[in-house]
Amino acid sequence: MSSAGSDRASYGPSFHEPLKFAYWVPNVSGGLVVSKIEQRTDWGYDYNVKLAQLAENNGFDYALSQVRYIASYGAAYQHESTAFSLALTLATERLKVIAAIHPGLWQPGVLAKWIATADQITGGRMAINVVSGWFKDEFTKLGEPWLEHGERYRRSEEFIRYVREIWTSDNAEFNGDFYNLHDFDLKPKPVITDSRPHPEIFMGGNSTDARGMGGRVTDWYFANGNTPEGIHEQIRDVTDVATVHGRIVKFGVNGFLIGRDTEAAARDVLREIVDKADREAVEGFGAAVKQAGQSTGDKKGMWQDSEFADLVQYNDGFRTGLIGTPEQIATRMIEYKKLGVNLFLLGFLHYHEDVEYFGREILPLVRELEAAELERV
Ligand SMILES: Cc1cc2nc3c(=O)[nH]c(=O)nc-3n(C[C@H](O)[C@H](O)[C@H](O)COP(=O)(O)O)c2cc1C
Repeated sequence: MSSAGSDRASYGPSFHEPLKFAYWVPNVSGGLVVSKIEQRTDWGYDYNVKLAQLAENNGFDYALSQVRYIASYGAAYQHESTAFSLALTLATERLKVIAAIHPGLWQPGVLAKWIATADQITGGRMAINVVSGWFKDEFTKLGEPWLEHGERYRRSEEFIRYVREIWTSDNAEFNGDFYNLHDFDLKPKPVITDSRPHPEIFMGGNSTDARGMGGRVTDWYFANGNTPEGIHEQIRDVTDVATVHGRIVKFGVNGFLIGRDTEAAARDVLREIVDKADREAVEGFGAAVKQAGQSTGDKKGMWQDSEFADLVQYNDGFRTGLIGTPEQIATRMIEYKKLGVNLFLLGFLHYHEDVEYFGREILPLVRELEAAELERV
């Protein structure tokens, strides 16, 4: 891999901060892999409440609720993300919950108001993940236009600027091609906490459009699973744009984590997931997401080079390589941290038990390695 160097300066200013952890909320049915392997994960509310409580007691800072409106390639049932996120926040004490939302399906002022209220109720524990969309049917079946890739991102960027303006200004003004705002005073505004001036704004995407938008307007950039080289390239691109705009953007990387006491046992689980893949659903998903990225001029959209085995995990989570023993996984995480990764967004096969295994066996090693690395440099 391309190393980020071995001195502290080259690790970036955030290296002294502990890695943060988020998990994908299984609020759609079928789990996080498109496979017929047994998954002891349930998309229902009761299971998710217990999971959120386990997660905050096992080192997780955030949970990310997914947004899907209709069945799609192995996700027959879906709970809506903003309502589900609020419910999980109320069932926990510290966990911050990130609700995925689509510009194009929400009017931004209505969403800003919704989140401001939820943020007041939860004492500042709400966040949003702005996703620009890959699932054309979802829009067309709802009777909404499906914009081309670059236009989707132009709309998302305006959406984010508008939402931030309304959250932070008493006389909010915004003039864009998609949205306008005139002398608007949102009351109450979201809670201001020590760690952020308004609910954090995440985004998910990897294309050149996504990187530019992340650098210009988001607080966090979520990448699909990828190799250290692939992540390094994105961090560099986003940071270059952010620097020009005098901003700092933090990075989260998706990874499907399979931790077992031996590497062979973890690899066996991965093999079984892929062997039992729901081939038809994976191929349908692959065709849809590749189509969604086709209109990017440079073909750098998410999933453009994903292979069949990668697509068995919706967000290329196997590619991050968090598969093996606790030592191997912790070491791998530090490798990414050295490149500037601030957070891992994790998915699991059997959420309840795997989250507990993470907290008990893996997280303490990550903390030990972080401390040792800081001592060393
Ligand atoms: C971490 C992450 C989470 C995402 N969550 C969702 C989601 O919940 N619903 C959805 O429709 N798309 C989701 N997306 C996909 C985006 O909508 C979009 O299709 C993708 O980011 C486009 O990538 P591109 O900019 O590389 O073309 C997510 C993407 C990432 C990286």
